[in-house]
Amino acid sequence: MLVALDEKNIIGLLTMWTRPTLLHGAKSALIDELVVDKAYRGRGVGKELVKNAFAEAKLRGCVEIEVSTEKTNRKAIEFYRNCGFAEEHVLLEKKMRKGFGRFKR
Ligand SMILES: CC(C)(COP(=O)(O)OP(=O)(O)OC[C@H]1O[C@@H](n2cnc3c(N)ncnc32)[C@H](O)[C@@H]1OP(=O)(O)O)[C@@H](O)C(=O)NCCC(=O)NCCS
Repeated sequence: MLVALDEKNIIGLLTMWTRPTLLHGAKSALIDELVVDKAYRGRGVGKELVKNAFAEAKLRGCVEIEVSTEKTNRKAIEFYRNCGFAEEHVLLEKKMRKGFGRFKR
């Protein structure tokens, strides 16, 4: 987990995990969640967190880093493209039941 701080508060959060893959014969990293406090968006905080995630994934020997977002989240898709990600896979999902998250974009 990476966090961005101002003088005293957490203003951004990125969670990532890594896993070995048979496909690559090496580890792959996945950015799980990324959120920047609304008041701090558009100031480079998200990109800085992603840059640090790239560095951390490299340190851990990953050969790639992946991220997924809802296909309706156009802003995040543009943001990730700007960070150097390209669309390589299709992620399929089956809804099991409603979650309890209270996060709002
Ligand atoms: C997506 C999110 C993390 C971006 O964080 P941010 O701190 O606002 O983004 P940055 O200021 O670091 O932007 C980095 C670059 O992406 C571009 N970018 C950011 N938002 C963009 C948007 N909506 N449309 C187009 N480009 C965008 C910026 O212009 C900037 O470009 P530059 O480096 O060439 O100047 C933030 O908007 C957020 O928390 N959104 C809600 C949660 C979410 O959707 N998370 C992603 C899903 S997992």
